Amino acid sequence: MRCLSAKIISRSPGETERIGFNLGTFLKSSGSAKTVMLYGDLGTGKTTLVKGIASAFGIAKRDICSASFVIVAEYETSPPFYHMDLYRLERPEAVDAAGVWEYIGTGGVVVIEWAERLHGDIEDAVKVYITHLKAEEREIIIEGVNSAEFMAACEE
Ligand SMILES: Nc1ncnc2c1ncn2[C@@H]1O[C@H](COP(=O)(O)OP(=O)(O)OP(=O)(O)O)[C@@H](O)[C@H]1O
Ligand SMILES: [Mg+2]
Repeated sequence: MRCLSAKIISRSPGETERIGFNLGTFLKSSGSAKTVMLYGDLGTGKTTLVKGIASAFGIAKRDICSASFVIVAEYETSPPFYHMDLYRLERPEAVDAAGVWEYIGTGGVVVIEWAERLHGDIEDAVKVYITHLKAEEREIIIEGVNSAEFMAACEE
C-alpha cells in the first residue's frame, strides 16, 4: 500500500473536532484501518480530535473525556468504539498488563492517545501527529489512510 499523508492546519478547537469528524466518517465507511494512533504533547488537542472522531459514531462529545484514569473507555456503538489514553503507562509491561493489545484487531474502532507508549506498531493503523504551532493553531498530520480522495480532501 502506498503511504499517503495529509497535512492540515487547524485554527480552533472546533476545527480540530471537524477534522476528527471527517476522519471518523471515513473510518466508519471504510472496511480497512480501525486503529488510530495519536501523537502530540500534553494539551495539543488529541482528546479534542477524539471528540470529533467519536461524534461520527453517534457518541456525544461530552461523553468523551480524558481517559487517563480509566485507560480504556468503551462505547457500545456499532462497531464498538474504544478510546484509550496510555499517558500513565510508561513501561511496556504496564501496557501489556492493562490488556491494551486485546482490543486491537477485534473489529472495533480503537483510538489511542499517547500511542508512543505502546512501544510497538499496529499494522494498517492511521497515525495522527498534532503539533502546537501558536495560540489556537495546530498542525495535524494524518498518515496511513488508504484513500487518496480522503487525503486530498483533507488538504483543501
Ligand atoms: N486548534 C486547536 N485544536 C485543538 N485544541 C485546541 C486548539 N486551539 C486551542 N486548543 C485548546 O487546547 C486544549 C487541547 O486539549 P486536549 O485535552 O484536547 O489535549 P490533549 O492533547 O488530549 O491533552 P493530554 O495530553 O493532556 O491528553 C484545549 O483546551 C483546547 O481548547
Ligand atoms: Mg487527552
